[in-house]
Amino acid sequence: MRPILALGLAAAALPTATALKVGANDAWIEHTPFGYSHKNFYKGDASIISGGVASLASGAELGGNAETQGLKQYVTHKNYRLIYIVVEATYRLVANKASGIKTLADFKGKKIGTFSGSSAQVFVDTLLGSAGLERGQYSTVSGGMCMRAPCGANTFPSQLKSKAIDAFGCWETAVELGIEAVGEENVVVFKNASLYREIYSLYATTENLKNANTRKQIVQYVKALNDTLDVFRNDPEKVYPFVAKECGVDIPVLRKVWPEHKWGPGDMGEGLIDFLEREDKYLAKVDKRKEATREELKRFVDTSVYEEALKL
Ligand SMILES: *[C@@H]1O[C@H](CO)[C@@H](O)[C@H](O)[C@H]1NC(C)=O
Ligand SMILES: *[C@@H]1O[C@H](CO)[C@@H](O)[C@H](O)[C@H]1NC(C)=O
Repeated sequence: MRPILALGLAAAALPTATALKVGANDAWIEHTPFGYSHKNFYKGDASIISGGVASLASGAELGGNAETQGLKQYVTHKNYRLIYIVVEATYRLVANKASGIKTLADFKGKKIGTFSGSSAQVFVDTLLGSAGLERGQYSTVSGGMCMRAPCGANTFPSQLKSKAIDAFGCWETAVELGIEAVGEENVVVFKNASLYREIYSLYATTENLKNANTRKQIVQYVKALNDTLDVFRNDPEKVYPFVAKECGVDIPVLRKVWPEHKWGPGDMGEGLIDFLEREDKYLAKVDKRKEATREELKRFVDTSVYEEALKL
């Protein structure tokens, strides 16, 4: 009798831990620390579901997405919080020299591949905006994503090569594949991380952060993720096979684009608020809505989970 009774008591004393569901797009390099952590660092139960920050509305406790999607969702979901920065990725804009592009000003009248409504579009508009070009002075077209060569005819790297587009800007490994398709000597590459970088973050809802049990799990999750990112930052050779398999990319290409990824923890201070404020102004204009106030953006960024994780 005794062992069984003891077991029953121990089970009753445990808080009910549900498995955490993390919404993320599994095609992207940025999301791979989640799975790596589930395998190697996070002690609880967690799984990835296809999605992103929007998954918070359909049962996920956590979501991973660029700040762009976070800001877009925040418009109608004021209960969403950005709780941790997983990676800051410098996007690149690659142009075919044959199109006569040497500087950002040369993009006037050019055809640029990007993904409408995504962080890639924010990047392209922001970068070209810094050279005084406005939307309408260049055209943007969408195309297929390619993460591994050979790239299909309808994807950006192939379109750059066939001159169907003059340039394209988005996340990796597509840009690297574009450079390789046309030849390093035949392209010019633009980037400016202080103007625009993707801030791929982890999001949760205020409801889940207020629930003591769920919050505890989320704090432990962030702690494990932070430990994971030490490996991503300092020992990348160890994670390349996992990342390559998860998103279907080749390791030599991955190795080349790794320096464009600054793995967390990111700085969630005033600099982030400034960055979000600038981007939200831009998004509000494009989406024809009211911009979030600085106070609202300050509420959107919740550093308390990370601060608790520091005490573990
Ligand atoms: C990046 O953009 C900032 C802000 O516009 C600018 O001050 C800086 O010179 C740019 N850096 C490069 C390398 O162009
Ligand atoms: C996250 O990692 C950084 C870099 O290793 C470290 O300085 C920081 O204390 C870690 N934070 C947590 C919550 O573990």
